[in-house]
Amino acid sequence: MLSKTSPDMASFPCSRVSCLGDNYAYLLHDVDTGTVGVVDPSEAVPIIDALSRRNWNLTYILNTHHHHDHTGGNAELKARYGAKVIGSGIDKDRIPGIDIVLNDGEKWMFAGHEVHVMETPGYTRGHISFYFPGSRAIFTGDTLFSLSCGKLLEGTPEQMLSSLRRIMSLPDDTNIYCGHEYTLIPRMMHFRLMQPM
Ligand SMILES: [Fe+2]
Repeated sequence: MLSKTSPDMASFPCSRVSCLGDNYAYLLHDVDTGTVGVVDPSEAVPIIDALSRRNWNLTYILNTHHHHDHTGGNAELKARYGAKVIGSGIDKDRIPGIDIVLNDGEKWMFAGHEVHVMETPGYTRGHISFYFPGSRAIFTGDTLFSLSCGKLLEGTPEQMLSSLRRIMSLPDDTNIYCGHEYTLIPRMMHFRLMQPM
């Protein structure tokens, strides 16, 4: 669970929810207030299932960028729970149902927990990452994965490098929560390379 008094990593309440083929959404829960957030819900059903199992409501939807595989669940979740949608000011016209617009350097509070908004363009021009300094956690969407970074769909190499440097400048014990599981294919390729012909 999120702790308002301790930055202990072990207390961070992040529950991973697998969506679509290789997407990750994340549930955040503040026990004191019952506030619940979801990061990048690509589809609604797995999120609804995860919330129902925990008997949780949904307060906020946090989007790192506008792509459907990160916002596809916005409309259904918003309609069902009345959750507020949070996203980048740069992409406010591309994020479905956006209610709260945030820009680079702004701070937002999740049930008393400070959230820093970091623009991390390169993959898309309006991509943002959500950094929770008190919990040493950052949600990087499609900017940074376990073994790679996002493609340069809308940005330049310089923008992506700058975005990655911003993430690298965070404390070494920062946990990185990325938007996709992209480690399996390279692992399979490695396995095949290791097999005798
Ligand atoms: Fe994605």
